[in-house]
Amino acid sequence: MCGIVGVTGRSDATEILISGLEKLEYRGYDSAGIYLNNAHKEDHLVKTQGKIADLKAKLTPEIKGTTGIGHTRWATNGAPSVKNAHPQFSTDERFYLVHNGVIENYEELKAQYLSDVRLVSQTDTEVVVQLVDHFVIQDQMTTQQAFEKTISLLKGSSYAFLLMDREDPETLYVAKNKSPLLIGLGKDFNVVCSDALAMLNVTKDFLELHDGEMVVVTPKTVKITNQSGQRVERKAFHVDLDPKAADRGAYPYYMLKEIDEQPAVLHRIQETYLQDSGIPVLDQEMLNAMAKADRIYIVGAGTSYHAGLVGQTLFEKLAQVPTQAVLASEFAYTDPILSKHPFFIFLTQSGETADSRQVLVRVNEEWQAPSLTITNVENSTLYREASYQLLLQAGPEIAVASTKAYTAQIAVEAVVAKALGTRKQVPAADAFDLQHELSLAANAIQAIVDDKAQIKTVAHKDLATTRNAFYIGRGVDYFVALEAALKLKEISYIQAEGFASGELKHGTIALIEDQTPVIALITQARTASHTRGNIQEVQSRGAQVLTIVSENLAKTSDQLVIPSISELLMPLISVVPAQLLAYYASLERGYNVDQPRNLAKSVTVE
Ligand code: F6R
Repeated sequence: MCGIVGVTGRSDATEILISGLEKLEYRGYDSAGIYLNNAHKEDHLVKTQGKIADLKAKLTPEIKGTTGIGHTRWATNGAPSVKNAHPQFSTDERFYLVHNGVIENYEELKAQYLSDVRLVSQTDTEVVVQLVDHFVIQDQMTTQQAFEKTISLLKGSSYAFLLMDREDPETLYVAKNKSPLLIGLGKDFNVVCSDALAMLNVTKDFLELHDGEMVVVTPKTVKITNQSGQRVERKAFHVDLDPKAADRGAYPYYMLKEIDEQPAVLHRIQETYLQDSGIPVLDQEMLNAMAKADRIYIVGAGTSYHAGLVGQTLFEKLAQVPTQAVLASEFAYTDPILSKHPFFIFLTQSGETADSRQVLVRVNEEWQAPSLTITNVENSTLYREASYQLLLQAGPEIAVASTKAYTAQIAVEAVVAKALGTRKQVPAADAFDLQHELSLAANAIQAIVDDKAQIKTVAHKDLATTRNAFYIGRGVDYFVALEAALKLKEISYIQAEGFASGELKHGTIALIEDQTPVIALITQARTASHTRGNIQEVQSRGAQVLTIVSENLAKTSDQLVIPSISELLMPLISVVPAQLLAYYASLERGYNVDQPRNLAKSVTVE
């Protein structure tokens, strides 16, 4: 949700900023900009509405410098436009600021301090940069003092800021609260970025920043201070990731690459978390804490919430612990009557989702309960702030629509549920051969992705022009229906909904018209015949029905028959045709699959 980058001490600063922004484009892509300066104060500002490619098209060879900041935007305050693009700057064109986050009290600050300033954008960010200028010019503060004073006025806000002062051309002023930000360390240069991926081509050593900290970065120095103004010394961490892992390779879109990577991700999870015998290798202290829990709460948003719903069944069946998946954005602002000994699991691909983080803050401060974050990003905020951590091993997920992180989340939940069940001597856990089932799942997904032409044909036939579509299922099939519908709507803009198939007759069936696509998921023996009954009901009202059915439950009339494995893990497989249907529907309609409108990947505002 907005990506920011900064660099100081490099003659190729423009290239570093642009390549960093390209890597961060998944965080927002409605407008972009860079500001550069050098020791002679020869500065440049370039902004555009649109994507990084549009920004690149505006660059000329003179646009260079040794220090600079850049931004790719997902609009919050102020519609996408050049004026609202960042960097925002002060009226005297001395201060330049990029920002990821939301300033809650910017209207009040504007009224209190800037009544005589004519603001040119509708952004909260401009208020901040004008305030810095105001304190420097009116109150004769140094830039750092003015920046600190400004930050102290931002109540309840989230921000990652990078500020430059034209008069001090090699210094980056940095501040962070709730929004992610890292400092990357180099020899005679330093960089700043929202995500390490952006700067892996120049450094692999990073410093994390904590909320409330401010940093002054020059080519040779990084000075961190905490909220009380005390200096903070922090050890760097090394990111052991091949920058090529985030490349698209020969694929037309990241989403297709990431769908195809799912068998490899499952194998990596097996290698990381299971011994050859199939026994999970997990932190014993974490399992002890989980074993004391009388209820597990799984917290997530969007796709991660959907993976949490599947997790409910895994934990209840394999570990016999009552488990409830909750929507982070709702749970954060309710007063739940928690069980006596709750344990919280956070599912988050990015590790930065503000809604989920808000719940974790309450878990730590108010409820003082143990927690586990399962994430794809080491050292992300939710990773750091939970009591225990597990990584998804999915590799960078760049497409906005999450695919491999969903299947990885379910697989890692299965590992934890099996380990907990084994620890509690639950017979179902002992009997569950997870190693074998994950191998079967990986093979099954491979078979589906190898035969994607079939799914492309179906998408062309049923989803190319339809206005709406429905996924239906029962039990875990219903949970997959929710995820399948989200995938379809977010990248093809078809109005798609997932329904519990038994609920159709209680109202939703009124929406079925002639040729309305209804995609039924049938992977659970207990409810298969009931769902088939619901198919009859919609078919007799004109629906165009498509079935995704596991082999053991298939009939000759079924269209997409998928291999069958343990019913508990069928979501790993049944979701894949749905991911591909969404992908091909989006292509059919001529959209940018990886960058759907109005969305961004890492949602760092509440
Ligand atoms: C949908 C999608 C989102 C995310 C949600 C949570 O394809 O990707 O719904 O799942 O924004 O993000 P994370 O998992 O990073 O917390």
